[in-house]
Amino acid sequence: MVKKLLLALCLFTPFVAAADSVESMLQEMAIIENNSALLAAARKDGEERASLCVHCHGEDGNAKRDYIPNLASQNASYLFTQFEHFASGARKNYVMSKLAGNLTKDDRINIALFFSRMDVKPRPQPVATNAGGEALYNSVCFVCHGKEGYGSQQYPRIAGQPYDYLKDTLMKFLNNDPERQNSPMMGVIRSMNEKQLDDVAAYVANLP
Ligand code: HEC
Ligand code: HEC
Repeated sequence: MVKKLLLALCLFTPFVAAADSVESMLQEMAIIENNSALLAAARKDGEERASLCVHCHGEDGNAKRDYIPNLASQNASYLFTQFEHFASGARKNYVMSKLAGNLTKDDRINIALFFSRMDVKPRPQPVATNAGGEALYNSVCFVCHGKEGYGSQQYPRIAGQPYDYLKDTLMKFLNNDPERQNSPMMGVIRSMNEKQLDDVAAYVANLP
């Protein structure tokens, strides 16, 4: 359904992007996002394919365990580019790397559009024990992730991710872990220490 509608639309669109580059797939996703009929069809297809994901990320994209990230309300372009990173090996996780390699390009777009439109449901997280995390967030992190932690087309949403996932991920960045090779975050937090990352993780986990 999405393919047919998209094909029809592309006939009237002046550019033809090189097939299957990440940029061209993101352009294709943007075309779908700007057309309500295409978007509805993509979300429906994505919901069907998401049956592979719900065991861990939840039916509505709210993770079942605190070491697993929420996909609900995450920016679609970030979700999509992370599949590319898992598939190419730039980012590594046993399950995700296998899954990403087995999803078609259309699946990856449709699933990203499906989860990005679901709502994050807040659940209890460890609370910050001091104001250090908030101060650090408002002096450094907000520049890219936004004041509220919602990110943008270029940057991931981090508000409301589970504390365990945030802390674990920040420690991977701090330790230059090959599971998240070449992430720009490594440069950003190079001079921070574990205590600061712990405080900021608790602050971000409780952002609504
Ligand atoms: C067995 C559990 C499991 C299943 C099933 C699973 N995931 Fe994951 N997923 C994870 C874990 C754990 C991570 C975090 C990996 C890490 O720490 O880097 C993750 C990370 C991700 C990320 C990166 C999110 C971020 O915030 O960086 C995306 C996107 C994702 N999964 C999408 C999917 C999709 C789509 C499916 C179904 C096709 C799926 N996952 C199935 C466990 C799972
Ligand atoms: C210069 C821009 C920039 C700044 C400043 C920045 N980030 Fe990031 N952040 C990014 C980018 C880009 C990514 C996606 C990284 C990737 O794909 O590996 C990211 C990813 C993350 C992730 C992983 C998200 C996920 O779902 O896996 C966390 C957590 C995070 N940032 C927290 C922070 C915190 C906390 C701060 C402040 C101490 C911060 N960031 C400052 C650009 C930035």
